[in-house]
Amino acid sequence: MNRIYVFSSTGTSLQLAREIAAQNTDFEIVSIPKLMKQKTWSIDADKAGFVFPCYYGEMPKIVREFITNAQRVSVNYTFGVATAGGDIGYSLKKLDKTLKERGSSLNYGKGIVIASNYMNGWYYDMLMPSKEKLQKRIEAAKELCIKIAEDVKTGCNSSYKKSLAGYLMPHIISPSRYVKDTRPWDSEFSTNKNCNGCGTCAKVCPVDNIVLENSRPVFNHNCQRCMACVQYCPRSAFEIEGQAMDKARYTYPEISIKEMIAFNEGL
Ligand SMILES: Cc1cc2nc3c(=O)[nH]c(=O)nc-3n(C[C@H](O)[C@H](O)[C@H](O)COP(=O)(O)O)c2cc1C
Repeated sequence: MNRIYVFSSTGTSLQLAREIAAQNTDFEIVSIPKLMKQKTWSIDADKAGFVFPCYYGEMPKIVREFITNAQRVSVNYTFGVATAGGDIGYSLKKLDKTLKERGSSLNYGKGIVIASNYMNGWYYDMLMPSKEKLQKRIEAAKELCIKIAEDVKTGCNSSYKKSLAGYLMPHIISPSRYVKDTRPWDSEFSTNKNCNGCGTCAKVCPVDNIVLENSRPVFNHNCQRCMACVQYCPRSAFEIEGQAMDKARYTYPEISIKEMIAFNEGL
């Protein structure tokens, strides 16, 4: 069996994994957060893909823990696809390094830039592509996914792109407290009077970090800072560090919130 392991909070990585799998019908798509809710899991596949967003020029913590804490890593060929709003930085390099610690390594990798869902950044609106540009990027990404699928089918080995600038930029332009922050990542999130306790945030959180108490979200300190709660809140009620998020929302246009919830929710 071939598998693509996916972490996605706003749909980009999920849809691109689907585009790749659509070319290789023997690929099963597996949600990393969903599998991790089983408490024990293995990474077991002839060909294994890892598709995830770049966070701060790196691979998200949850993907690293998924590989590091797997009971068994048994794969013959691996590929990685990192999605990003600007640059995938060292995320694939980190994937390779993490796989090596488990006796494997990355055979093939590609980065795909679509749009940033990172609402904290003051540059968020500046990075947001126009509707036309977004559409162009999506079309180019679909083409690239066909090429990735062909390469994976033939077991292509090629080095992946890593960029020092893409690694350094988020560390320079994100306030350093975001990158170095050792507090639980949800300590900066709150909701304002627009919150009506609808519970969308709790449903869409991939790691079940949010529960409702007295019709208000309460955070359980296992936040991945993935922005699903902020991006999908139907009343734009989330604030970060007390700042209203008065910005355009980004979620991947072809993935509905219903699909996103179903993809990551517990078994
Ligand atoms: C915490 C966080 C950090 C991010 N860091 C970067 C980054 O360093 N470089 C970049 O280009 N995009 C960055 N992004 C944007 C995401 O990588 C991008 O929007 C991704 O495609 C989202 O994938 P998803 O829709 O599958 O969740 C970041 C997003 C978040 C939430």
